[in-house]
Amino acid sequence: MDLSGRVAIVTGAGRGLGRAYAEALAAAGASVVVNDADSGAAAEVAEKITAAGGMAVAQPGAVGPTEVADRLVERAVAEYGRLDVLVTNAGILRDRMLWNMSDEEFDDVLQVHLRGTFTCVRAAVRQMRAQGSGGRIIAVGSPAGQRGNVGQTNYSAAKAAVVGMVRTWSMECARAGITVNAVIPVAATAMTATIPAFAPYVSAWQADGTPLPGWLRAAEGFGVPEDAAGLVVFLASARSDHVTGQAIGIGGDKLSLWSHPQEIAAAYRAGGWSADEIAETWPALGRWNQPVGIPAPEVPHQ
Ligand SMILES: NC(=O)c1ccc[n+]([C@@H]2O[C@H](COP(=O)([O-])OP(=O)(O)OC[C@H]3O[C@@H](n4cnc5c(N)ncnc54)[C@H](O)[C@@H]3O)[C@@H](O)[C@H]2O)c1
Repeated sequence: MDLSGRVAIVTGAGRGLGRAYAEALAAAGASVVVNDADSGAAAEVAEKITAAGGMAVAQPGAVGPTEVADRLVERAVAEYGRLDVLVTNAGILRDRMLWNMSDEEFDDVLQVHLRGTFTCVRAAVRQMRAQGSGGRIIAVGSPAGQRGNVGQTNYSAAKAAVVGMVRTWSMECARAGITVNAVIPVAATAMTATIPAFAPYVSAWQADGTPLPGWLRAAEGFGVPEDAAGLVVFLASARSDHVTGQAIGIGGDKLSLWSHPQEIAAAYRAGGWSADEIAETWPALGRWNQPVGIPAPEVPHQ
């Protein structure tokens, strides 16, 4: 897939999934602005891309504030003359049960994932609309945002909100030819290395490149960051012109499309519903109760 002439920004691209996205976009011919809160990591990725013959510059900064977002877009335009693709990948975790979570832990996670996505996409879409030739917004959700996850009040709120914004933006940006999608990735990174069921396999892969087992890649859709990069390149390319407003899962051997929430059962009563009438009718709707949480991994017997 040829992205020559396209200019991309990837936030949080100093390591993990963001790094894989930046490297894959550059390998496909895009010029990439590599952002990360860790300036050394951003510089290292940009250097590695240029050493391999690609085009990249580092633009460090912690996304969240408007000024950081605006500077990112300004750098893309100053360096490469335009902006075609934005991947809002930067992220942090501050996991804690609800009753132990501090205001600061809540705000920190929303600042990066939610405000960071909002400010960066707003700056990018302003530039893309001014250019008048369309564009690509690729935001990043999570299974935790799609289904909820114990210990992740802040993170599941932010990630669900990201997908909510994606649906809204896909409509608002359609006329300008800007597609807006969410990637829902699963991969072995610093963020997932401590999940107990995955930890031994992630450690072995990190230590000496031992491939993740087939059951993990297929049944759990859990692979390495590079496994998720093809989806980002596809969404950045002309081949995905018709794809917008979607939440697309990727990980290991699995590519998936997430459903959008919709009403799955309804009852009607002329004049409306009292509490007693709801209680009487509830069994008819309650049989459609929806499951919550990310299903636990099914580790095969060795
Ligand atoms: N790894 C997974 O399985 C998984 C699953 C679902 C969603 N995600 C999402 O994918 C994205 C990448 O996750 P990862 O697993 O590669 O994590 P990671 O921790 O390996 O990498 C995240 C990167 O973002 C950077 N970062 C943190 N805050 C930043 C900020 N304010 N501005 C700029 N950079 C910042 C970090 O320095 C780091 O380099 C995140 O949005 C994460 O929530 C990951």
